[in-house]
Parts: sequence; C-alpha cells; structure tokens
Amino acid sequence: MDYRTYFKEYPNEEGRFGEYGGSYLPPELIPAFEEIYDAYNAICRSAQFISELRRIRREFQGRPTPVYHCERLSRKLGTCQIYLKREDLNHTGAHKLNHCMGEGLLAKYMGKKRLIAETGAGQHGVALATAAAYFGLECEIHMGEVDIAKQAPNVARMRILGAKIVPVSFGLKTLKEAVDSAFISYAKNYKDSIYCIGSALGPHPFPLMVRDFQMCVGIEAREQFLSMTGILPDMVCACVGGGSNAAGMFSAFLGDPVEICGVEPLGKGETTGLHAASMTYGRKGVLHGFESMLLQEADGSPSPVYSIASGLDYPGVGPEHALWNQLKRVKYVTATDEDAVDAFFKLSRYEGIIPALESSHAVAYAIRRARQSKTGAILVNCSGRGDKDVDYVIEHYGYGDNYKFPETE
Ligand SMILES: Cc1ncc(COP(=O)(O)O)c(C=O)c1O
Repeated sequence: MDYRTYFKEYPNEEGRFGEYGGSYLPPELIPAFEEIYDAYNAICRSAQFISELRRIRREFQGRPTPVYHCERLSRKLGTCQIYLKREDLNHTGAHKLNHCMGEGLLAKYMGKKRLIAETGAGQHGVALATAAAYFGLECEIHMGEVDIAKQAPNVARMRILGAKIVPVSFGLKTLKEAVDSAFISYAKNYKDSIYCIGSALGPHPFPLMVRDFQMCVGIEAREQFLSMTGILPDMVCACVGGGSNAAGMFSAFLGDPVEICGVEPLGKGETTGLHAASMTYGRKGVLHGFESMLLQEADGSPSPVYSIASGLDYPGVGPEHALWNQLKRVKYVTATDEDAVDAFFKLSRYEGIIPALESSHAVAYAIRRARQSKTGAILVNCSGRGDKDVDYVIEHYGYGDNYKFPETE
C-alpha cells in the first residue's frame, strides 16, 4: 500500500474503505445523509470554513494540545520512554470536541437548528452540548440509563450547557441503544436537525468526516514529537471504541516506519458479553448503517458488550479501522478493566495526570510494552481526562492505596 495516495483512494465515492463502510439506510434517511455529504464536500473544503475552524481550534479549544514526556513513569518501568498527546487538555476534557466543533460549524453553514447525538461516557455529549452553545443551536443527547447513572458529572455538565437529555431505557441501556434511539429521533427531525455521530463510524460520510476533523491530533503530535526528539516514535497507540481518537492519531503516521496499535477493551475477559473487543473477536456485519467488524450473535444481531469504560462499550468499530486491520497496517490488541484501572492509578500517582478510563486502556498497553522493551519511545493518545470517572473508581476500587507503586517496577 502506498500511503502517499491512501487518502485519495479511501474512502471511495460510496464511502467504502475497501470491503467496509458504505451506507445502509432506510430510504427516508438517504437524502438526509446525501445532503450532509454534499455540504461537507462543498463547505468543509472552502478556505472560509477552514480558517473559521482553525480560529475555533486555537481560541476556543486551546489547541494545539501539548505532547508530554512521562519521565517518572518511564523511569519506573525501565528505559523505554512514554509520551502522551494531551487530548485531556482539549477544552471539555477530551478529543471529542475536535469533531463536534467541525460538525457544529457544518450545521451552522447548512442552516440547521438542532444537533442530535448519542453518548456513552458523556464526553461526546458534553462536547456536542458545548458546540451547540457556541453556535447557538439546540442540542438533544440520547444516553442509556446505565451510563446516566455511571457518568453523572457529565450529565450535569450537558444540562448546564443547555442540552436536552433523552434517557434510553431499553436493551442494555448503554451506548448501542443510545445510537438506536438517536437514529429514531433523527429520522423524524432530519429537515431541521443534523445527526452528529460521536465516533468515526456510522453511514457515509461520518467515518470520513469524523476522521478528518480528528486529524489535527495526529498532525500536531507528529510535528511536536519530531521537534521534541528529532525522530519519530517507535510505536503509537490509542484506545479504540468506535475509533475516532485512534483514527485522528493514526492517520498522521500511516506512511511512517512507526508501529501503530489500537487498544480494545477486554473488560472482564474473553467470554461474549464481558468485553467489547469488536476487532479482536468480531466478524463482518452491518450495524447502525455501516459495514464493519462487529460483535454479533449467530443470527447477526449485535452481541451484548461490556467495558468499565462507557465510551468503549460498543459492539462495533469504525470501518477504516477494519481496513487498517485487514491491510495489517495497525495491530489491534486488548487491555482488561483491571489493566485500565492499574494504569489509571499509575498515571495519576507517577505523573499527576488522571486519565479517562477509556484512555487508561491505551496507557495500560504502553506500560506493558515499555516493560518489555529496553529502548525506544511510545506515543500514547491520552484521549481524555478522568474527572468523570473518579466517583465510579472510588466506589469500586478505592483511592488506589491497594495498588502497588514500587520505586522500580
Ligand atoms: C475520553 C474518551 N476516549 C475515547 C473514547 C472512545 O471513543 P473513540 O474510539 O471514538 O475515540 C471516548 C468515548 O466516549 C472517550 O470519552
């Protein structure tokens, strides 16, 4: 694969990343998604749109976020060096605002009055509510009742920002059902609303659009790492839920001699229903209007999924990741709940950075690899901050006093 031409080839006109992606929609929604695609092509590539988005990134979001060298953590683990791309310092505390501001700006140019979305951890919901407040739009967020209880601080933030929360009480009451519910609402309201999918998935053009809006993460990180060290990292990793933070990070390194790893949630283990590692254990199928690797039952219905990290708790993964997996350009690995919680406490105690439980999966994998390797540098996308998870972690794991923090590990 020649990665110099990659972005011209993928996705194709139908939104396909090789065998994956595309658009599987009920007939009444086809014009709505076509309208979004046409607007994206016409508006988002205009100099006016790009310069407005750049100003927002700089003045409102606080970009560029820094790359940070975790010297203490690295020293504890050995001689391999760990660096973080600090998306936790992006306004609202996660990478999600990168695509929400893009989607909000697009909605404004399209003359829409309402943003509709689902959320799992609440980070996408908070980011979208923020974008809606910024652009003066209405905002409707669908969220499973399980996640509403688990992510109370984010629910409060969304309400303060003026969003309407629609609690979802069917099925497992988590992210998949929240997407189902948001789709139903969008089908009724598409004339004056836009559905702002929370990750690099869904029907065309969302996997493309969300990846493009997230590319600032990888482009900045690559430049920053080069200027800090004079070389490229040996390995780049990010957690993979739907795949937006990972897509943004990875796409800047595709053409480089850099190992790329996506970290999926293995939850409580390999048994179906106890994890959400869609790439590792899934097979090809269609869900929520796109084709990708999905965790599914024999009859094709989505399997129940679980992860300690609500934002990773989804039975599918963005189609571009399925392509990268097939091309063997990105390796997809796993980290359990326990690995993530251990990394959550280690980064907190060694570096003074409390990561989101989602991001803790990527940190956990970096820790594993740093222990195995004597040389090199690992760049981890710290996709978000852990404030939203603090209450949950304290309740289930205490303050970390039972975890080991030896002088050298
Ligand atoms: C902080 C954080 N990181 C990662 C994710 C996973 O999403 P994605 O795979 O789209 O980056 C979420 C989702 O809510 C999140 O809140």
